[in-house]
Parts: sequence; structure tokens; C-alpha cells
Amino acid sequence: MTEFDINHFIQSNDTTAAQKIIHSALAAFDNIAISFSGAEDVVLIDMAVKAKKNVQVFSLDTGRLPPETYQFLETVRKHYNLPIHILSPDKEELDKFTHEKGLFSFFEDGHKQCCGIRKVAPLRKKLLSLDAWITGQRKDQSHGTRNQLNIVEEDTTFSKDDSTLYKFNPLADWSSEDVWNYIKMFDVPYNPLHQKGFISIGCEPCTRAVLPNQHEREGRWWWEETEHKECGLHIGNLIPTKSS
Ligand code: ADX
Ligand code: SF4
Repeated sequence: MTEFDINHFIQSNDTTAAQKIIHSALAAFDNIAISFSGAEDVVLIDMAVKAKKNVQVFSLDTGRLPPETYQFLETVRKHYNLPIHILSPDKEELDKFTHEKGLFSFFEDGHKQCCGIRKVAPLRKKLLSLDAWITGQRKDQSHGTRNQLNIVEEDTTFSKDDSTLYKFNPLADWSSEDVWNYIKMFDVPYNPLHQKGFISIGCEPCTRAVLPNQHEREGRWWWEETEHKECGLHIGNLIPTKSS
């Protein structure tokens, strides 16, 4: 593989041309995977399979996802005839945590520890095997933490010591409306929770439906301050990264 030129990639791609960005990312890296949450980031999968049939997809099964999301993961797997690598937390670490703190400690002392065990550690392990990953993050998803999002970044949080990990965010400049126009236009399957007032979807105890005109992030970790609403997967959004 020739050296990836991040600045050239950014300059030569229209930041709203999500499909082209995904195609170019898949062309630039063999060892690349989509990180699929089971929500409206399904558009990434739809776009990717149109470029490459055997695209790698993984999902972090926290053990606390809503039943609708588990069913949706299966719907997507069958619809695209695509394996989804389901990643689980480390059993011993999780046993110790739930034994000490029970199943709902995040309501008392914040979501960081639980997310760390159920999402971040399995993600860190998975990313060690990849050169690049693709996420469904968008600038319009948060009031503060994702404003500076770029279509591709050097992932300084999860890079190995001896090589750079790249993180593509092809939907960075898409709005929620763009995503839903795509879903409708191409008849893309979607999580049925979206029909029940859920916009942003994460774990069942930490996600709730929002009212009209409420921001989607208000349905996530609603008992915590806005600036803490990154679970650790995208902690680089809170810390300055090396991206250009
Ligand atoms: S989170 O950090 O607050 O949980 P969010 O739900 O906004 O993230 O999703 C942003 C992107 O992070 C998703 O499009 C997806 O790429 C990745 N992501 C979030 N949750 C998961 C998950 N459970 N499994 C895999 N990827 C995920
Ligand atoms: Fe735990 Fe909630 Fe984080 Fe899920 S979102 S891993 S249940 S704190």
C-alpha cells in the first residue's frame, strides 16, 4: 500500500459527497472496517456495499442495546448478506464491574466507566487489527463536541505506537435530513426505534426518545452535562488531535 496522504484526500474530496468519500476510503485501504451502531449509520453500509461487496463491518455489543437494535443488526446482516462482526466486552472485567457496582452505576457516577468496559476496550482491541475505520459521526449530532469533525482524521486515541490509524467520517458534513433523504430514496432498512421518537440510539438504559425540537443528543445520557456526552469511542473530539 502506498503512503496515505491525508491532506490530499481532504483537498480532493467534496466533504458532502459521502458516497465518493467511502468509495475512496475503501480504495485507499484494504484493512478498513465500518463501525456500525445499529442506527441511521446504516447508510454507510448501503454506500459501501455498492462499492465493494465484502466490506468489513463490526458492531460493539455492549450487552445493553435495545431489543430493536439487536433485531435490526440481524435485519441488516440478512438484507446485505454481509457478516457483522459482533464484539463483546471482556467477561472478567465486566463481571468484576457489575459485581462491585451493579447494573446501573452510570446514573450515579457517570457513564465513563461502564462505556469504558462495554465499548471502548473492545473497540481498542478491534482497532489494533485495522489500518482505518469508518464511523457515522456528523457535525450536526452535537452542540459542541463534533463541530470540528473532518471527513478523515488521524486517530490519535487508538493509533498503535508504530503506525497511524485513520478514521473516516464520511457523513461529517451531512445533516440528519440528508441521512433520512438517502434512507428513503434508496429504501434502506432502518431501526424501528426511529419511528418511536428516537433519533440518536445507543444503549437501552442511556437512550430515550426526544420531543419535537429537542436536539437528538438530549436523548443520550440526559442526566449528564453536554460536554461529557462522548462515550470514549470518539474521545478525540474532546482532545485536540493531529488531524490537519
Ligand atoms: S456515541 O459515542 O455517542 O455512542 P454515536 O451513537 O453518536 O456514538 O455514534 C457515532 C458513531 O460511532 C456511529 O455512527 C458508529 O460509527 C460509532 N458507534 C457508536 N456506537 C457504536 C456501537 N455500539 N458499535 C459500533 N459502532 C458504534
Ligand atoms: Fe453502559 Fe450506558 Fe455506556 Fe451503554 S451507554 S456502555 S449502558 S454507560
